[in-house]
Amino acid sequence: MSSQDIPEESLPTEQGHERGAVATREDPFADPGLPAHKPRIQDIDERAARRSERTVALLFTVSMLATVAFIASYVIFPVDKIVYIWPIGHISALNFALGTSLGIALFCIGAGAVHWARTLMSDVEVPDERHAVAAEPEVRAKVMADFKAGAEESGFGRRKLIRNTMFGAMAMVPLSGVMLLRDLGPLPEIKLRKTLWAKGKLLINMNTNEPLRPEDIAVGSLSFAKPEGLEEHDHGFQTEIAKAALMLIRIQPEEIKDKKELDWSVGGIVAYSKICTHVGCPISLYEQQTHHVLCPCHQSTFDLSDGARVIFGPAGHPLPQLQIGVNDEGYLEALGDFEVPVGPAFWERG
Ligand code: FES
Repeated sequence: MSSQDIPEESLPTEQGHERGAVATREDPFADPGLPAHKPRIQDIDERAARRSERTVALLFTVSMLATVAFIASYVIFPVDKIVYIWPIGHISALNFALGTSLGIALFCIGAGAVHWARTLMSDVEVPDERHAVAAEPEVRAKVMADFKAGAEESGFGRRKLIRNTMFGAMAMVPLSGVMLLRDLGPLPEIKLRKTLWAKGKLLINMNTNEPLRPEDIAVGSLSFAKPEGLEEHDHGFQTEIAKAALMLIRIQPEEIKDKKELDWSVGGIVAYSKICTHVGCPISLYEQQTHHVLCPCHQSTFDLSDGARVIFGPAGHPLPQLQIGVNDEGYLEALGDFEVPVGPAFWERG
């Protein structure tokens, strides 16, 4: 809408505040009205308005050219062409060209529209009075009468015993929420820092109950292991396996990006805690192409070729790695306990 289309009485004056009321003791919230409209350079100088017009047209033209470049990129760049671009590094030339050209095309449309609105479109503010929200007096009287009749029929005022016990019950219920705070404790203290893994403990296959050899772990497979000596019928088995459960994956050594991870592996076999570092669910889904493992509870995803770094989801820490080796008889063994606590984050974790 241009300022010519706006009724004269709606326009604020150049003096400002003249059409608004002044706050007084009786009416402290009086509407002060709109401030005076300050004309922009484009409103008073036709040459400045033309300059703005050319700028907007230029931005839209650049957007069109960028769209043409986007389409041309499909023809110019082969899908597998990789180029080095500082500071990004090595990247697909096609992806870079598509992303850049589309980004420029969209940015220029946005920038052109914003510049157009800020410099050439009318900036006169027009008040739009809000309708009264209060209902008609007759409607309000009827609602109050209905409410009183309902209260009378329910006996809420008369039956004080019921009313008071109801208030008591409603006041007591939130106390049960306070009791739930008990579930925040006790703190694990050192219990998650120590597991049954120790130097020389053999890795036992959870399915066959046999000690594992490196050749038992195939590339792309996911195996689960427990420490030697921990049997299912043992007292406290669930507590111990909940901390010590291990998963083993064999990755081609050249695909392991983390140097320490490689040093702690045996020919590409890496051993990680199976307990998710979010809230402790057992991890079980392995994607062999990407070496990602996924926790089924809240979808935390860890990259096992890069120190089990968290790449997605709410987990706050990488999965702890267990350093493993091969003993004289050719069996996989632990070379110590986990270096960091297993499982979820907790206050004392440090
Ligand atoms: S417990 Fe694994 S993502 Fe929540």
